Amino acid sequence: MEATENIEILDVTIIEPRLKHPTIFERFDNLKGGEAFIIHNDHDPKPLYYQLLGERGNIFKWEYLEQGPAVWEVKISKLTQEEGETVGELVAKDFRKAQVFKKYGIDFCCGGKKSVAQACEEKGIDQETLEKELNASTAAETRETDYGSWELPFLADYIVNMHHKYVREAIPALYEYTTKIARVHGKQHPELLEVAKHFVNVANELEAHMPKEERVLFPFIKQLDEAKKQGIQLDRPPFGTIQNPINMMETEHEAAGGELEAIRELTNNYTLPADACATYTVAFKKLQEFEADLHRHIHLENNLLFPKALELEKEVLK
Ligand SMILES: [Fe+2]
Ligand SMILES: [Fe+2]
Repeated sequence: MEATENIEILDVTIIEPRLKHPTIFERFDNLKGGEAFIIHNDHDPKPLYYQLLGERGNIFKWEYLEQGPAVWEVKISKLTQEEGETVGELVAKDFRKAQVFKKYGIDFCCGGKKSVAQACEEKGIDQETLEKELNASTAAETRETDYGSWELPFLADYIVNMHHKYVREAIPALYEYTTKIARVHGKQHPELLEVAKHFVNVANELEAHMPKEERVLFPFIKQLDEAKKQGIQLDRPPFGTIQNPINMMETEHEAAGGELEAIRELTNNYTLPADACATYTVAFKKLQEFEADLHRHIHLENNLLFPKALELEKEVLK
């Protein structure tokens, strides 16, 4: 175990109940990047983990030193700025990095809230190699659209006009292809029946998901932007804070991403069998196109639009 002798221990059991979490938060906020403290408790402080994650984001490391039954000790370290940067944030700054994450099978959109270190650990990837490739990816003189500099109403409209429109146009054809190949080739390749089911799932999910963004979330983001420009303060919306619909959208993104991930696994990364006909080939090509578009779409929402809208809300809500 690493040296923990010099790290301050906060005994949570002796703090008045209503002051427990505020005290821990204060202690955490006072840490500099790379520093840590230990909390000592008589039960698993897991709820605190989620509260910290929700309110401060993925900027800490949570390590159990003792796991009950009577004593629970957790070392909470604040990450340095570099350690704390998530995969999603890196791609938000420069989309060229997405290629590298894609190559290693690291999810930068739906699961983009992980740090590079966490993602590497999960996938068993050498972090140094990955970081070298990330740096190389942005060294080339290619130009990427700088979505990060766009105003939020423009970004929201762009998402609807480019991505929602694409999804709606692509679904009918893909539905036809996936059901057709399942029908024709399902005997020799039973996984195609599963592929067709997963496609129906993702199509249904997205058809229910996009109108929520178009009718509720995006118009509210535009209102926030307008309020800031006019210098006025807005009343709280019926959903309380924009964090609520955002959480819902992110959960739905994860579900949609999961369906496509399942298709990728079932088809062994879209490997065509020797007896694949033209429709089979087109279906796989179009499914991959659909997946790539969805990844970029979700990336623009999860990593750019939503975090910026949350910041904006803090400024203009009463
Ligand atoms: Fe969307
Ligand atoms: Fe979305």
